[in-house]
Amino acid sequence: MTDADRELLERADSVAARAYAPYSKFFVGAAARTRDGRVFEGVNVENAAYPLGICAEKTTLGAAVTAGVRPGEMEAIAINASPCGGCRQWLHEFGIERVIYRRSDGEIAVTTPAELLPDTFEF
Ligand code: THU
Repeated sequence: MTDADRELLERADSVAARAYAPYSKFFVGAAARTRDGRVFEGVNVENAAYPLGICAEKTTLGAAVTAGVRPGEMEAIAINASPCGGCRQWLHEFGIERVIYRRSDGEIAVTTPAELLPDTFEF
């Protein structure tokens, strides 16, 4: 893992403290870096109507898109947890080169969206 990726995972770890997760108490943070070095962060945001909650990866990518970032412009995303199935589809959509995340056993995985979700749905 590169120093830049390690730093990105540290950003994900620390932003996780700002997650709004009063129901699951599972605090997720993510940080994505664009090829030109900008970093966007996000956390999971839950809701009393449980299915309405959103994952940290989605708030992160939403922040990046709001700032004008488009698919193909992100080099890496780091998450302090294993990305769920739906988020894997999001990672694929944005063509993120590398995904760094912390497995539940604490081990750090460095992988790609294709490895996380093979034979992906394409519109
Ligand atoms: N969660 C994420 O933020 N990202 C994932 O990829 C896995 C799950 C959140 C959703 C929910 O707020 C909590 O973790 C428990 O599922």
